[in-house]
Amino acid sequence: MSRLRVFITRCLPTDLQPLQQIADVEVWTERRPPPYEILLAKVKEIDGLLCLLSDRIDRQLIEAATSLKVISQMAVGYDNVDVSSATARGIPVGHTPGVLTDATADFTWALLMAAARRIVEADKFTRALQWQTWEPDLLLGADIAGATLGIVGLGRIGQAVARRARGFEMRIIYTSRKRCEPKLEVSLGVEFVSFERLLQESDFVSIHTPLTADTYHLFGASQLALMKPSAILINTARGPIVDPHALYQALSCGQIAGAAIDVTEPEPIPADSPLLSLDNLIITPHIGSASRQTRKKMADIAIENAIAGLQKRRLPYCVNPEVYENL
Ligand code: DGY
Repeated sequence: MSRLRVFITRCLPTDLQPLQQIADVEVWTERRPPPYEILLAKVKEIDGLLCLLSDRIDRQLIEAATSLKVISQMAVGYDNVDVSSATARGIPVGHTPGVLTDATADFTWALLMAAARRIVEADKFTRALQWQTWEPDLLLGADIAGATLGIVGLGRIGQAVARRARGFEMRIIYTSRKRCEPKLEVSLGVEFVSFERLLQESDFVSIHTPLTADTYHLFGASQLALMKPSAILINTARGPIVDPHALYQALSCGQIAGAAIDVTEPEPIPADSPLLSLDNLIITPHIGSASRQTRKKMADIAIENAIAGLQKRRLPYCVNPEVYENL
């Protein structure tokens, strides 16, 4: 019997041996993702695909993958994968929830604090040797302690962000597709409000919802217009949840005070994006989960999912368990 074949779309920060024991593994070693046409050709001859959020795994690709037994994505989000096409073909799709919750919540807080206290601007100012004396009104920012934090999407990461906010004695409000159990609300100290109220009352708005058809450009001109002029928007979820043109308008005319985004639409941010010119915006290159320990855990889970799929076992972390229903 011929060996199983697996394609991994980038070098992973972990040991591939467990996978190599059961399959021939090919790794795309370049820094940038494999071009779509190459991926399309590859999937025709593989049993397992281990991919990243920057790979477009669409219907055409899935239909071409006639021997594919598993798609294992090294990320919790999977909006780049056409899951319904995979399900239609009986292919399980794996992801890596849980292990990146704390790292992403920590990073959200790093961005929130950096934006509130203008740390990136202050660093540039100092390096430019503009620091001449202590000034009463130099680089004034916003208080965090006691402020109102609005969380959009109270899943694992949203909850972890809320837990950290309690240490700052903040008022925490949230909005979500589904309201949480009262017990969870009490333990987190959060209050459920409408999206509109959240926008109107929050000093900081932090986005933790997946990208779906419903959340695409959830933050457009009219939503940003509801926010306080002193408010700061944080996005560590997915870029297309915020309309970049509307964000530029809101930031450049002072409709909101600032923003910090780890994700953009598109990614990477285009060189001619006007967002790059704004001082009241912090932009980082989608590194919310990028701690050494977390990225290794994500890679290990992606490998675990891939092995299970190749061995026709249920994936430990499967986004389309319906594929197992008729077995
Ligand atoms: C994810 O996992 O979806 C993040 O965006 C990257 O860690």
